Amino acid sequence: VPSVRIAPSILSADFARLGEEIRAIDEAGADWIHVDVMDGHFVPNLTIGPMVVKALRPHTTKTFDVHLMISPVDAFLDAFAQAGADIITFHPEAGPHSHRTVQHIKSLGKKAGVSLNPGTPAKMLDYLIDEVDLVLIMSVNPGFGGQSFIESQLRKIEAVRKMIDKSGREIALEVDGGIDATTAPRAIAAGADVLVAGTATFRGGPSAYAANIAGLRGS
Ligand code: DX5
Ligand code: ZN
Repeated sequence: VPSVRIAPSILSADFARLGEEIRAIDEAGADWIHVDVMDGHFVPNLTIGPMVVKALRPHTTKTFDVHLMISPVDAFLDAFAQAGADIITFHPEAGPHSHRTVQHIKSLGKKAGVSLNPGTPAKMLDYLIDEVDLVLIMSVNPGFGGQSFIESQLRKIEAVRKMIDKSGREIALEVDGGIDATTAPRAIAAGADVLVAGTATFRGGPSAYAANIAGLRGS
């Protein structure tokens, strides 16, 4: 496994100062910027849309890892691509045409990711794994930051790691929810190579971000 990448979730940032927050986590060593998009329908919360992604784009050159928790998703893909998303991840549970959605994202010249909720089996990836650039395993039920890591998802990470290795393709394996200095090494041991962390990145304010990110890397 190559060295782990850390993707702070800006859901836990100060929304009144998002541009500054993004510059701070960039300087503190974030690899990707994880943007949680929620619609109050697929998940029980509302967050941000393409206009905010576009406004944030000039504040960093790091990869924008956009996690769409919305249904339906297809009508918004072009807008997020134009706004500056680099990776666009969606939930196959949110609509019947996940294969089409992957092709649509790739046709926009973006990396395509699929995310599985805690109750969704790894098997859902059988006919998508050879098409995607990233798999995102949810280790909490999506909708809110600050929830506890669901242990059973370690087995799913292991199963998906096997699928990825078997595919022989370069596919990132990302884990999202309840990641902190205790759960991070367990997710990595199970096969994850990208860790999303909201609460654990932003706690303590800007002066703590570099140490928080280093702690997630285990350094
Ligand atoms: C959950 C979001 C996560 C969340 C993670 O719905 O997709 O990205 O912000 O937050 P923490 O790290 O606080 O569990
Ligand atoms: Zn997320």
